[in-house]
Amino acid sequence: MAADEPLVLGIETSCDETGVGIVRGTTLLADAVASSVDTHARFGGVVPEIASRAHLEAMVPTIERALKEAGVSARDLDGIAVTSGPGLAGALLVGVSAAKAYAYALGKPLYGVNHLASHICVDQLEHGPLPEPTMALLVSGGHSSLLLAPDITADVRPLGATIDDAAGEAFDKIARVLDLGFPGGPVIDRLAREGDPKAIAFPRGLTGPRDAPYDFSFSGLKTSVARWIEAKRAAGEEVPVRDVAASFQEAVVDVLTRKAVRACKDEGVDHLMIGGGVAANSRLRALAQERCERAGIRLRVPRPKLCTDNGAMVAALGAEMVARNRLPSDLELSADSSLPVTEPHVPGAAHAHAHSRAHDHDHVHEISKDNLYS
Ligand code: KG4
Ligand code: ZN
Repeated sequence: MAADEPLVLGIETSCDETGVGIVRGTTLLADAVASSVDTHARFGGVVPEIASRAHLEAMVPTIERALKEAGVSARDLDGIAVTSGPGLAGALLVGVSAAKAYAYALGKPLYGVNHLASHICVDQLEHGPLPEPTMALLVSGGHSSLLLAPDITADVRPLGATIDDAAGEAFDKIARVLDLGFPGGPVIDRLAREGDPKAIAFPRGLTGPRDAPYDFSFSGLKTSVARWIEAKRAAGEEVPVRDVAASFQEAVVDVLTRKAVRACKDEGVDHLMIGGGVAANSRLRALAQERCERAGIRLRVPRPKLCTDNGAMVAALGAEMVARNRLPSDLELSADSSLPVTEPHVPGAAHAHAHSRAHDHDHVHEISKDNLYS
């Protein structure tokens, strides 16, 4: 770890995790997370107002905990990064407001960064600098996409995405149908280990020869699993929860890995990065490893704690922004709940201002000339 690498604090509040991470370059120094997931569990999903209030209460203590854990002073930071989107508007706003306050008070540059690009960049903390381009399969509660990123700070290109539910959303919905609580991913992952993935042949969405090669669809699978369970219940039979979990999970990870490996082959990229909460799934990790090995592709997946939402991923992308001299955001930065994946960060308007000032100047000049000669 070189002392001249950028020291950046990252704040993540896009959903129900208040995450604050500190990194120097690509080295993780602190990863403090306060989660309000238990408060949401009894509602079967994240309640935005509850999440925002929990962020507000956890924000300052989590920042202080991270600084202590990293053993650095806020004065030494080279920048403050924050998730400015996509995510829940009210939840994002708490993080963005906090980041602006700290950046202003400390006189540090502010970087509003993209949550999805952060899920990819976090792997730098575990496996070193990302190759360029990076092929990434991004699978979370709100998104499922295949992305080709020649430069994670400035150039992220979507090859395909889900046309209905996100992969994590499908896990959460099936867990609800099976009365397994929220969030569904971790519990289905656990139960599936004791089930038979071949017990029930659930459909693989969008895998026909005429289907878009890199798009995903999980809504048909979800309906099919729900109907299968209903039919069992209606017949008064016991639902084999472990087999259903294993067979459902297999359908999801089969399609995800198949399409990701195909994208690597088609684009001539010899490695694959998997990020987002669903990347914590043990079967997804195992099957991806198996298929990548067979295809001669190197697989990079961060450890599970770095896959689910955290502040370290935001700090990792922020540090990359500083290292590559990307333009910081303005203090007017706002939360953007639907920030597109193609915008890794929200640069300030410095260029626009410079341009409009030059323009004003020309304008003034012309008027004075007019005055002179008229
Ligand atoms: O990235 P993330 O923490 O938050 C979003 O940005 O959405 O992803 C959360 C999603 C949830 O849907 C959760 O059920 C899923 O990731 N998830 C998993 C696992 N751990 C979390 N899905 C499958 N297997 C897991 N082990
Ligand atoms: Zn996420």
